[in-house]
Amino acid sequence: MNYTPRQIVAELDKYIIGQDKAKREVAVALRNRYRRSQLAKEAQDEITPKNIIMKGPTGVGKTEIARRLSKLVKAPFVKVEATKFTEVGYVGRDCESMIRDLVECSVRLVREEQMRDVSIKAEKIAKKQIVKILYDTFKHQRGETPEEIFTAQIKEKLDDGTYDDVVVEIEIIDEPKSMELVPGSGAAIDLGSIFGDMMPKKKKKKKVSVKEALRLLTNEEASKMVDEDAVITEGLRRAEQEGIIFIDEIDKIASKSKTGGADVSREGVQRDILPIVEGSTVVTKYGSVKTDYILFIAAGAFHIASIGDLIPELQGRFPIIVELTSLSKEDFVSILTIPENAITKQYATLLAVDNISLKFSKDAIDTIAELCVELNATQEDIGARRMHTIMENLLEDISFNADGTHPVIELEIDKKYVEEHLKDIINSRNLKKYIL
Ligand SMILES: Nc1ncnc2c1ncn2[C@@H]1O[C@H](COP(=O)(O)OP(=O)(O)OP(=O)(O)O)[C@@H](O)[C@H]1O
Ligand SMILES: [Mg+2]
Repeated sequence: MNYTPRQIVAELDKYIIGQDKAKREVAVALRNRYRRSQLAKEAQDEITPKNIIMKGPTGVGKTEIARRLSKLVKAPFVKVEATKFTEVGYVGRDCESMIRDLVECSVRLVREEQMRDVSIKAEKIAKKQIVKILYDTFKHQRGETPEEIFTAQIKEKLDDGTYDDVVVEIEIIDEPKSMELVPGSGAAIDLGSIFGDMMPKKKKKKKVSVKEALRLLTNEEASKMVDEDAVITEGLRRAEQEGIIFIDEIDKIASKSKTGGADVSREGVQRDILPIVEGSTVVTKYGSVKTDYILFIAAGAFHIASIGDLIPELQGRFPIIVELTSLSKEDFVSILTIPENAITKQYATLLAVDNISLKFSKDAIDTIAELCVELNATQEDIGARRMHTIMENLLEDISFNADGTHPVIELEIDKKYVEEHLKDIINSRNLKKYIL
């Protein structure tokens, strides 16, 4: 499915309130990947993506946009944190590891797709094997029943789930685990792929439920049918042509002063990221990858450093800058109630487990939203994260006392309840105002 910009925005709207500009830019950038893919090869080579920086205060949805986007796109997508990287030569993750991660993701994606394509066929074969095992397990029950009929009966019961929990012993290929040389470095040797073709695959006996056996054997059969070389070729192609890398916290590697120390290594990280964003070739265990057409979306709060503190060459590779805005009272009201995973809905579902039917009146939501805005204005602006601490305080009593031993209790949180239970916060707010 190739979403249109409008559809992408509509999907993001389900979870992220406001920030329309950022959503639009991201949606257009995504759609442009598709548009480009429809062109002739020569035209494609000419068009490189317009990378984006999302800039805005803490807790207003930057990372959330990335998270939701990653679930939406079928393209290889990785999200990395700029602060996790260290300059080449130092201990830690080098910047090129983001490309290796992307390829890893891409290959996995393609493999899953191809496995899905053969899954019906693979399941048929797996079922045959399990029927054989079950036949042996239950053959003492066969009595006078002819062999074929007994087999058919077993097959039928297998299909309708009767045997799901029966434990059987199966033989499956024992995949050697890959080993990471230096933890976190991303430099792994995959023993399977080094020795895989030389050594006969070792089989291992395993006792599992029929349900699990079916899953394992189907997987194994599907892997046999999938052409691993083709998976890798396509995986590399997709990483190069459709890959998206989200670099979060990019402001943390921008250096304000030029006084050396930590700043030097931050700038080093920027210098290491630069060729990757500009377009270079990175060697991965699957083969080399050109980074020219990968789309980069970066995000950062930029409240200490500004975009101008990034090295100019790197700024130049992010032509689109979108600003996300601080959250208003109306935003908070919406965030509290509208998204599918809105926090008030989350608490209601959680407490329903303990027989509390929780509702919020409109004026309660208004009061909570007002409080969020006020606290963000008078204390630190932590965006929507404010609402988590407030809600936790507000519902602490109920959360603690609910134990499910009672019949369903209907509870409506209204303005009065909010004011009573957040007295401390409200008072300290008034106090602050007074002092100021
Ligand atoms: N506009 C919004 N709509 C709905 N939920 C939001 C919005 N902004 C933030 N949130 C919620 O607040 C929390 C923090 O948001 P997020 O992680 O996106 O912040 P951020 O902008 O990346 O901040 P930081 O600069 O600190 O990384 C998340 O749980 C997110 O769901
Ligand atoms: Mg973030």
